[in-house]
Amino acid sequence: MMQHLLGCEDLDRTTAIQILDTALELSQRHAAGERKLDLLRGRIITNLFYEDSTRTRLSFDAAAKRLGADVVTFTAKGSSVSKGESLVDTALTLQAMGMDAALVRHSAAGAPHRLARVLDCAVVNAGDGAHQHPTQALLDAFTIRARLHGTGQLGADLTGVRVGIVGDILHSRVAHSNAILLVTLGARVSVIAPPTLLPRRLPWNVTGHHDLDEVLPELDVCMPLRVQAERMNSAYFPSAAEYVRQWGLDAARAARLPDHAIVMTPGPTVRGMEISSEVADSPRSTIVEQVANGVSVRAAVLHLLLNGEQFVPQPTAFGNVSHLAMSS
Ligand code: NCD
Repeated sequence: MMQHLLGCEDLDRTTAIQILDTALELSQRHAAGERKLDLLRGRIITNLFYEDSTRTRLSFDAAAKRLGADVVTFTAKGSSVSKGESLVDTALTLQAMGMDAALVRHSAAGAPHRLARVLDCAVVNAGDGAHQHPTQALLDAFTIRARLHGTGQLGADLTGVRVGIVGDILHSRVAHSNAILLVTLGARVSVIAPPTLLPRRLPWNVTGHHDLDEVLPELDVCMPLRVQAERMNSAYFPSAAEYVRQWGLDAARAARLPDHAIVMTPGPTVRGMEISSEVADSPRSTIVEQVANGVSVRAAVLHLLLNGEQFVPQPTAFGNVSHLAMSS
């Protein structure tokens, strides 16, 4: 296991599967009534959030507490950032108060990497600009495995699963992290977007498409992403209505998917834009499961980063995890 989790290129297949298997075991133990474990008792986890967040911040918070850690939360709004303090100085200040892991969200790509060079503790990228969001990709992989495993198609990884990521690929850190991780796990990933929202060169071994209706029947997983309006300084499509007409996943479009296909989105969703309410609330949708799975996946990441190699379970076939060594 590595010292930090900064991007999905740091995760080889074995490590990614170890995280997913550990998360599965933690979620099963939680479901069986072990609501609080002692794996991180006495550790301090700091949320260092310079950008807005609902799910990711609260999910890391819940994950750390589920493992018995204490959580300190820093939000840029209301802090000395307004007085001119730098990211590094703020992080060193928090480190001086004693922290074992920093969970960093920042609008600048590379901010967590910068902190990883100066801090002694583990750094987890909780979203850096349009760059990466590795724990989101891990929880998405976990959700795909959990949902599609029932079809009997899958082993430990996602070999052969056809995933279509739709919409604002250019500005989405979720798209980038998912493209890297899902390909590492054996999935076949397509990105489907207007020409203006697709990077000119696709670096991650994925295929690019512009016609959503054509691709939908070929997917096991469809992932419509929110238009990242906060990262846009000009018009990338004529109007919201035009976007919805061509790229919005409504019931008629979703009906083109194979019966077993799932629809997932990281949230927050703008209903009526990238996804209609009818699809978001349909049985295909995994939106709520993704949030629940996120807590277990983030707990697994924290456990493996802070407790080290001796606690890593042997990689096994999905659904047949080895015993997770416990400190309590
Ligand atoms: C995403 C993010 O912040 O990158 N949200 C999340 O973490 N669940 C996606 C988004 O904001 O659209």
